[in-house]
Amino acid sequence: MDRIRIRGGKPLSGRIPIGGAKNATLPLMAAGLLSEGPLTLENAPDLADITTMRHLLVQHGMQVTQDKAERRLVLSGAADNLEAPYDLVRKMRASVLVLGPLVARFGEARVSLPGGCAIGTRPVDLHIKGLEQMGAVFDLEGGYMHAKAPQGLRGARIIFPQVSVGATENLLMAATLAEGTTELVNAAREPEIGDLAMCLMRMGARIEGIGTDRLVVEGVKRLGAATHPIIPDRIEAGTYACAAAITGGTVLLEGARMVDLGAVVRTLRECGVDVAEETAGLRITRSNGLRGADVMTEPFPGFATDMQAQFMALMCVAEGASMITETIFENRFMHVPELTRMGARIKYHGQSAIVRGVPKLSGAPVMATDLRASVSLVLAGLAAQGETIVNRVYHLDRGYEAIERKLSAVGAEIERI
Ligand code: EPZ
Repeated sequence: MDRIRIRGGKPLSGRIPIGGAKNATLPLMAAGLLSEGPLTLENAPDLADITTMRHLLVQHGMQVTQDKAERRLVLSGAADNLEAPYDLVRKMRASVLVLGPLVARFGEARVSLPGGCAIGTRPVDLHIKGLEQMGAVFDLEGGYMHAKAPQGLRGARIIFPQVSVGATENLLMAATLAEGTTELVNAAREPEIGDLAMCLMRMGARIEGIGTDRLVVEGVKRLGAATHPIIPDRIEAGTYACAAAITGGTVLLEGARMVDLGAVVRTLRECGVDVAEETAGLRITRSNGLRGADVMTEPFPGFATDMQAQFMALMCVAEGASMITETIFENRFMHVPELTRMGARIKYHGQSAIVRGVPKLSGAPVMATDLRASVSLVLAGLAAQGETIVNRVYHLDRGYEAIERKLSAVGAEIERI
């Protein structure tokens, strides 16, 4: 079981390359099921979750090749197995994104219910209800969703009672091959949705309203081949922005885009962090004190829930108090007890946490529980006095490519043991 050892206290300075977005790549790979292809995805990251999705699509019968040096994924062929098995789906919830494409293209799918994960129960009722509105019939048995649409899917007006990234993605993909027009109202607006829509358009889909919360899709008979460059990972960029801020350094995030960070930019500036857009990417500088700021996570363009744990680590060493409210997931404060072991002063009750800044954190052995909680412990370790050992780093490898290489290159004392 790999662990990561950090000796804190070094201000970071230099350049960090930002890779392709994990949460764009996963739905884009599922979109490969919608056509014979080939679908070529450029700027693809090399992450554990991408490997899991590759295995899933290959067991469906697709050909998926990944050239890690060229950062390219090529998907082709047709699925001849319409089942997504429990042992793969339970490893990665995003597996459920094969549901819409399989039903739309092949008229049937048998996908394991993903089950919960560390951060919450994470139901898929909105995915199911939307596809039912489009004519799919579901049979839930043995922990599997068995969906059938023998006459194919037909367009529908789907109003989401709450914003859901995955449900928007599943239904957007399904709508591209449905008969007639589909309207997705109160659709998620995360940049990854826009990236998926752009790729689907390149494959021949007809989509209007990209970037808004109302998507209108005109179904077509078939989709074709396409080449699509994946957008940079805004959560990786935001994470390394917090690394520069927490160590009091200056870092250029190569390829990062200001617009993708939404409210995170405003909040970082409120804390005294300087965020500037340069041609090569985003320059993050923190030269004076850090001030506490309040944050509430919201769907894009609000403050991203995937940045909450990282921001909390930053607030642990800020001047004054910060109130952090998590509105998206019901159990996303598991980094709190670990940060407390490093000397942080945090109290949470329900969905809100109060962080009282301390002058210094102290290194300690800590345990990671989920992807973003584990990276918040790395951030705390970068600022802490002494040595921090982060256990269970397989969580990290799901979403951060070569994190110790990228951080060492800008002066962090970090190694995998
Ligand atoms: C995506 O998950 C991301 N994953 C998550 O990132 C991210 O935290 C989340 O969106 C919110 O931005 C990928 O893109 C692969 P949701 P998703 O559907 O689609 C509830 C990471 O760290 N809900 O927007 O599963 C749900 O329980 C991961 O990279 C329903 O009730 O998120 C949650 O409370 C973690 N019914 C809220 O909606 C449904 O059918 C938002 O979930 C679907 C969702």
